[in-house]
Order: sequence, then C-alpha cells, then structure tokens
Amino acid sequence: MAVSIKSKAEIELMREAGRILAITHDELAKQVKPGMSTKDVDRIGEEIIRSYGCTPSFLNYNGYPASICVSLNEVVVHGIPDKHRIIQEDDIVSLDAGVIYKGYHSDAARTLIMPAVSDEVRELVKVTRECFFEGIKEAVPGKHIADIGRAVQQYAESHGYSVVRDLVGHGVGAKLHEEPEVPNFVERGRGRGMKLRPGMTIAVEPMINLGEFDVYWEDDDWTVVTEDGMPSAHYENTILITEGEPEILSQAPGIPL
Ligand code: MF3
Ligand code: CO
Repeated sequence: MAVSIKSKAEIELMREAGRILAITHDELAKQVKPGMSTKDVDRIGEEIIRSYGCTPSFLNYNGYPASICVSLNEVVVHGIPDKHRIIQEDDIVSLDAGVIYKGYHSDAARTLIMPAVSDEVRELVKVTRECFFEGIKEAVPGKHIADIGRAVQQYAESHGYSVVRDLVGHGVGAKLHEEPEVPNFVERGRGRGMKLRPGMTIAVEPMINLGEFDVYWEDDDWTVVTEDGMPSAHYENTILITEGEPEILSQAPGIPL
C-alpha cells in the first residue's frame, strides 16, 4: 500500500493518541526508580494508557507480550518486561510505548537516566534526543526521507557515536507500522526515499550506540542488543508533516519533550 495522507479528522485522533502517550511517558519518568522490576514499569504504563480509555499498541503486536518495551543499557530496543529484572542505580532505561485512540496510533520513546549513570552515558542520552530534533529539521515538504536520516547520522557521528542500521523509523497512523521506512542513516544505493508531503505522519526514532553500530537479536526474537555490549539510547516521536515546520503529535501541554 502507498503512503497515506491523513485527513484533518484522522490527524485530530492522532493528536489525542499522542497527547495521552506524552502523559504516559511523563508519568513513567516520574515513577520509574531503581529497585523496580521492568515488569513493574510495564504494569504502570499499561494502567495509565487504559485509564484514558486507550489500548496499548504493542500488546500482542506480532506476539509481543507487553505494553511497554523496557530496554536497559546495552539493550537497544524491544526489551521484554521481566519481574526478575531489577532496575539498578546506574542503568539507562529506554521506554518505548504506543497508544491507540479510536483506531489511530501514536508511537514514542524516551530514555530515562537513573541517579548513578556516568557522565559519558548521560551525554549519549542527551545527544540521542538532539539527533531527533536535528532529523526533523529536514521533515518539511519537498525534502526526502533520506534527508532526515542524513541529518541524524551526521549529528550522531560528529559526537563519535554510531547509528543502528538494523531498525528504522516508519509511517504510523491507522496501523503502528505503515510506509515509508524512515532510516536514521544513509547508504549508497538506497536512494533519497519518498518526497515528504503535508499530511504524512511518521515516527522518527534514532537508536544511537556509544560503541559500534552492530546489534543482534536474543533468543526470544525480540530483545535487540549491541554486539559490543556498550550502551544504546533511543528517542522517538510521532510527527506530522505540515506546510511548514513539522508538528510533534506525541506531546502534551506543559510536558517537556
Ligand atoms: N516502537 C516500536 C517501533 O517503533 C514498536 C515496538 S514493536 C512491538 O517499531 F512489538 F513491541 F510493538
Ligand atoms: Co516506532
């Protein structure tokens, strides 16, 4: 199926999904502490999403067994919540969540920093967030998908980090994953990608490694881990391409991005 251009009504539903998702992330950022299990985080997140009458997008998606992906340190994404995995004082905790409101999805990720995280890893988390904002400067009509990835990659690599190649951002809307793919990097032969047009809604989600970019999948077929065991950070928002600057849909008034 070709990329979909959302109607005003669809965008309104995605704004509401995004608002509730931003509130969910904000509440999780306040509540997640060392000593909790990653399963506790999932339970709290699911309760918040359901308290707004929404459905967690990820639960049972392709068999994923939870509502929130909780990925510690060297886990890049899709960590499965586990009651035996206890968050430590020096962990970074990446939380990826999706909300469905009246059939429309919003998808966003944040990486939380526990109190004893080193300055070096704090910087990785900060730059990963900045990568997103560098990327979406290019998310304007007339530019192409590859312009976003080029900006993310240049910014990450200029800080000495590497960009994960095996996972990409994506269109989002009536489905969690729609066309087009939104890579955080450029590759010879991959082309410029689709031209950006107002009404497109995409999830831009840099996954940035402190060490090398190589990753592997654990035996559960979900958990993605860095090959070198070094930390990885993730930051994601659902955005709308407009006539001018992109609009971040996964945000809420008074809540910092
Ligand atoms: N947010 C993830 C993504 O952007 C989705 C997680 S996959 C799931 O692709 F199965 F956990 F839902
Ligand atoms: Co996503």
